[in-house]
Amino acid sequence: MSIVIIRQDDKIELWKNALQEAAPDIKIYSYLESHPVDEIEVALVWKHPKGTLTKYPNLKYIACSGAGVDFIFEDDTTPQNLPITRVVDTMLASDMSEYVIAAIFSHLKRFYEYKVNQTKSLWKPEQYKRIRDYTIGILGLGALGTVLAKDLVHFGFKTQGWSNSRKEIPEVQAFAGQEELHEFLSSSEILVCLLPLTNETSGILNKQLFSQLPVGAFVINAARGGHLVDADLIEMLDNQHLSGATLDVFHQEPLSSDHPFWQHEKIHITPHYASVSDTSSVVPQIIENYRRMQQGRSLLNLVSTDKGY
Ligand code: GLV
Repeated sequence: MSIVIIRQDDKIELWKNALQEAAPDIKIYSYLESHPVDEIEVALVWKHPKGTLTKYPNLKYIACSGAGVDFIFEDDTTPQNLPITRVVDTMLASDMSEYVIAAIFSHLKRFYEYKVNQTKSLWKPEQYKRIRDYTIGILGLGALGTVLAKDLVHFGFKTQGWSNSRKEIPEVQAFAGQEELHEFLSSSEILVCLLPLTNETSGILNKQLFSQLPVGAFVINAARGGHLVDADLIEMLDNQHLSGATLDVFHQEPLSSDHPFWQHEKIHITPHYASVSDTSSVVPQIIENYRRMQQGRSLLNLVSTDKGY
């Protein structure tokens, strides 16, 4: 029995080779080559073309090769009642943490502003900030947010996090639920979004939320573009309520060349690269789940279809 890889980027061969090397006994196909659809038991997907999952009558589960599964729920042809697994991976989590920490320090030490000044040959030393000057608020204390929170504590940042249900992480102030969101926001001088994208969190980064942050707050979104209301961010930057934003994710990727974010001096763009599943780290868990399925054992890293993550 077999696995089919469905993704629209140029990484199908990379994944196919890595899986084949790790498990020579399993047949691995690209969805682009001719393959026996009846034999396919697992679809390993990343932003698959909508509708492609309907071709496999004997599919046992859908394996997402990344952390976020929002694109699977967005496809209304996704076969219902099939288990979905996602990636929970220490490398993915530490990569994300390193990205966010780099963005935080670039803001703290004003690297972003100096880069702009450099384009104008402008020598203009400004007061710099220190770790102790900032409280960092993390929206979402899941697999990624928890590792970031611990790393920030290690650096000496005052760190707080908000999640649906309260999470206990040493030295991290935990806020939970809608009733504690305002208190969390009002003291988050740098806000990091690492939430899953669901019906509840879509558009959560909006004017109403930004206005509850302290004046001069900085925003980092490394979760999904769908969390952000783009026009609200621009408005809150232009009226000086926010001091800047680092964005790795966008409603449409690649970000279209005429999007106003590109030209905005206070917006710092990276091309959805904050943390990308690495085959060496992730392939073993894909194979482990495949074996578990064969042996009738429960799958690891199952997604809750009710929660959407
Ligand atoms: C990357 O965006 C992921 O969800 O793994």
